[in-house]
Formats: sequence, C-alpha cells, structure tokens
Amino acid sequence: MISKAKKLAAEKAVEFVQGGMIVGLGTGSTSFFAIHRIAERMKQEGLNIRAVSSSTSSEELALQLGIPLVPFSEIDSIDLTIDGADEVDGEFNLIKGGGGALLREKILASNSRKFIVIVDESKVVNRLGKFPLPVEIVPFAAELTIKRLGKLPCTPEVRMVHGKPFLTDNGNWIVDCHFGEIADPGALSRQLKAIAGVVEHGLFLAMTDTVAVGHTDGTTRFL
Ligand code: 5RP
Repeated sequence: MISKAKKLAAEKAVEFVQGGMIVGLGTGSTSFFAIHRIAERMKQEGLNIRAVSSSTSSEELALQLGIPLVPFSEIDSIDLTIDGADEVDGEFNLIKGGGGALLREKILASNSRKFIVIVDESKVVNRLGKFPLPVEIVPFAAELTIKRLGKLPCTPEVRMVHGKPFLTDNGNWIVDCHFGEIADPGALSRQLKAIAGVVEHGLFLAMTDTVAVGHTDGTTRFL
C-alpha cells in the first residue's frame, strides 16, 4: 500500500516534466517510480529530456530505461529535480539520506530551478527528527568526528552493511544521528557543518518548492 502511495506521488510530480528540460533524478524507492514514469512518458509521448543523477543506482536505472544522461560539464543548472525524502515538515524542510545519497542529492537540489519532493503520507511530520539524521563523514579519523557528533544531543550510529561501514558513492561513511525532535533545524545545520570531517548532512532546509504526497487511499495532494 505504501508503495502504491509512493508511485502516486512520483507520477504526480512527473507531470511537471516538460520537453527540453534537464531533469535531476533522485534516489530511493519513490524516485524509482519517478524515473520509470519519465521513461514511460518518453516512449509514449516522445518527451525529450536529458537527465543528471544523484547516485550510481539511479544512473544505472536511467541508462537501462533509455533516459539520456548529460555530463555536468555541459550544463549550467538543472531545470527540475524530483526526489524522495525520509521526513517533510510543514515548512518543507526535509530529512534525507536514508538511502545514503544525501550529498549528491543536495548538490542536485541546490542547483535546480525547481525541486519537487515526492513522499507517501507517512513521511509528513510536525517536527523533523524521529527519523535518524544521516550525516556523511570522511573515513579519515572517523572516530574523532563521531565523538564530536556525540557531543550534540544525539546518539550517533555508524551505518553498517555486512559488518563493515556502509560506503557512499563518494567513498564516505554515513553516521545516523538519533536526535529525537529537532527544535531548530537551522541551528543544527550550522553546528554540523562546523565539524571538520562532516562532508554534508541530511537536513534540506528552504530548498523545496513543491511536495507531492501520495496517500494509501489512492489520492494525491500537494502540501
Ligand atoms: C536517499 C534519500 C531518499 O530519497 C529517502 O531515503 C527516501 O527513500 P524512499 O523513497 O525509498 O522512501 O534521501 O538518500
């Protein structure tokens, strides 16, 4: 049922894609549906777009589906990026990075004229923070960076896969920081960015233009 809601949100957002656009492709199970819908519209309507991707997984999917990718050296900006999120609040602030692609996702979002977020209804919250905040750190001296993260009011947990730290597409680690409710996302963003060793974090503040929400009852709405 949740995957149906994700698909609905994704398909609603893909209605904003127009011929000639440079489109940023997000990462994750909701973006998966958006990428499929873009490919479908290309086949059905002859929609002509070029894409950039926020992860190797979305890049591979785009290539499999015949969506042409454009090198960053050939573009100045992105017309529209469509991406999922782990939490969205009423001010369109997000937690992202559940899939570990937050750095590339933030680069795409911040270079996009329009950024549409696609979520199922379970992701809409009053306050961010129930979902642990993913923080991308360099592996060098990671232990020290993690100790500094632990001095914030959070419990840091290195994301592991098969007994080893999960590696992002950039060769970095993800630390999932359990904050509970985040009272001041702006202040936290600044604190995190001030820690040497932190490459990026999953708070996406004041970047989102539109949020498409899919509901398990088959409806969609914009926040
Ligand atoms: C990946 C992300 C995803 O957009 C986020 O985790 C949501 O994933 P899903 O669409 O699978 O629920 O930020 O880094």
